[in-house]
Amino acid sequence: MVWSFFFFGLLIACTGNPASASCSLQISPPRVVVRFGDSFSANCTSSSDQTNGMGWESTHQGVDLTQGVTSLPFKIDSVPEWKMEPMCYVNSRDGDQCTKTLPVTVYKMPDSVSLNYSLTKVEEGQKYYIQCDIANVAPARNLSVLWLKGNTIIKLETFNESSLSPVSKSSVLTLTAHRDDDGAEIWCEPKLNLWPEEQGPPSGPPVRSVKHNLTVLYPPTFNKLEDETLEMTVGENMTLNCNAKGNPPPSYRWEFPKFTKEWRDKEEVIEPILTLPFELPGVYTCTAYSNRGNVTKYFNISEAPRSRTTFGVMVGVGVAVGVLLLIAGAYFVAPNGTFSFNKGGYQPGTPSGPV
Ligand SMILES: *[C@@H]1O[C@H](CO)[C@@H](O)[C@H](O)[C@H]1NC(C)=O
Ligand SMILES: *[C@@H]1O[C@H](CO)[C@@H](O)[C@H](O)[C@H]1NC(C)=O
Ligand SMILES: *[C@@H]1O[C@H](CO)[C@@H](O)[C@H](O)[C@H]1NC(C)=O
Ligand SMILES: *[C@@H]1O[C@H](CO)[C@@H](O)[C@H](O)[C@H]1NC(C)=O
Ligand SMILES: *[C@@H]1O[C@H](CO)[C@@H](O)[C@H](O)[C@H]1NC(C)=O
Ligand SMILES: *[C@@H]1O[C@H](CO)[C@@H](O)[C@H](O)[C@H]1NC(C)=O
Ligand SMILES: *[C@@H]1O[C@H](CO)[C@@H](O)[C@H](O)[C@H]1NC(C)=O
Ligand SMILES: *[C@@H]1O[C@H](CO)[C@@H](O)[C@H](O)[C@H]1NC(C)=O
Repeated sequence: MVWSFFFFGLLIACTGNPASASCSLQISPPRVVVRFGDSFSANCTSSSDQTNGMGWESTHQGVDLTQGVTSLPFKIDSVPEWKMEPMCYVNSRDGDQCTKTLPVTVYKMPDSVSLNYSLTKVEEGQKYYIQCDIANVAPARNLSVLWLKGNTIIKLETFNESSLSPVSKSSVLTLTAHRDDDGAEIWCEPKLNLWPEEQGPPSGPPVRSVKHNLTVLYPPTFNKLEDETLEMTVGENMTLNCNAKGNPPPSYRWEFPKFTKEWRDKEEVIEPILTLPFELPGVYTCTAYSNRGNVTKYFNISEAPRSRTTFGVMVGVGVAVGVLLLIAGAYFVAPNGTFSFNKGGYQPGTPSGPV
């Protein structure tokens, strides 16, 4: 006990200002965050009434020693500096002085936030850079820059900056182009972290850059990857879905078994999804192509086996005869152009489904 008192006394002696431990000045608010040019005020209160006077020391609008008070207000009409440290002091009757500094953070929102990039279209797999330029912001040590891609934060940068006056800062985002990012919007948002959560500056629109629309070029890719094997009954409609994504959007080329000259020449057969009555088994081929590349999908279509009942056989025979007649007729009339899949039979945009 004795020893600890001894050390406590030694400690006070060494700090050279014993009064500061007991004079307890209170400043309200304890801390000020103010925009450059705005006003603020504070109030200094001494808990002791044995004072000989109080004052505020400041490079601007200081308050002279005032006697017979236990509290003293301080007001700045228009913050003129980036660094302010007003100090309240109280002189006690025994000649000691005690002081307390009011921490003041002076800020300035950026003049502008802009994106700078050289590429508007990128190849998949290519690396590219986008720069966010933030002009004249203070204090940059409390600045963070958020990068957003379609409302997801993809990067956050802070700055190790000592200057309290406004500076311009840049953040660079490096990305590797991916097809999923085609059409995504990217932007940056500077934030000044000066307030505790949920508090903030006088509300206004969020400060952010304009949005940049990413364009990623990539070869056609099928939504449904595998080749398809289908069993069809003659006369039934079949839907072949060759839908592919890509940038630029792909064109489509179809090939059917027993391909007629007519079909081949039909330039307009560029639909990704075809619905047409099934006539011939075989491999139906679709190629999605663009200047980025091409992909091919095979639809292996066979005829559904018929039931083995007599009735089924009879129906089967009937159908087979019908088909033969149809084919014969079709070949016969082919020069007239009547042998073709019903033009109205393929429908753009028809969703694939059970057929
Ligand atoms: C300063 O604080 C004292 C004590 O809380 C109070 O009596 C006084 O009215 C305040 N003055 C101002 C200007 O807020
Ligand atoms: C964009 O960045 C480049 C390289 O950093 C620079 O030379 C150019 O001046 C910038 N452009 C704008 C409009 O800031
Ligand atoms: C900030 O910069 C100072 C001086 O340039 C350096 O000493 C310090 O390590 C830096 N801090 C961080 C977190 O980068
Ligand atoms: C502002 O930056 C300073 C220096 O980096 C830091 O001490 C302080 O906590 C920051 N303020 C906030 C609210 O983050
Ligand atoms: C970005 O794309 C959206 C839709 O995809 C469009 O509405 C918007 O105008 C585009 N913005 C720019 C800057 O091109
Ligand atoms: C499809 O791509 C292959 C190489 O991947 C190329 O040899 C072929 O010529 C392309 N076909 C078409 C029709 O673009
Ligand atoms: C098509 O499917 C049949 C039966 O499933 C199979 O025997 C044949 O090899 C397939 N042909 C191709 C080209 O996939
Ligand atoms: C086949 O599709 C065509 C055009 O969509 C339609 O008119 C016809 O009724 C369909 N036939 C069958 C059997 O579903």
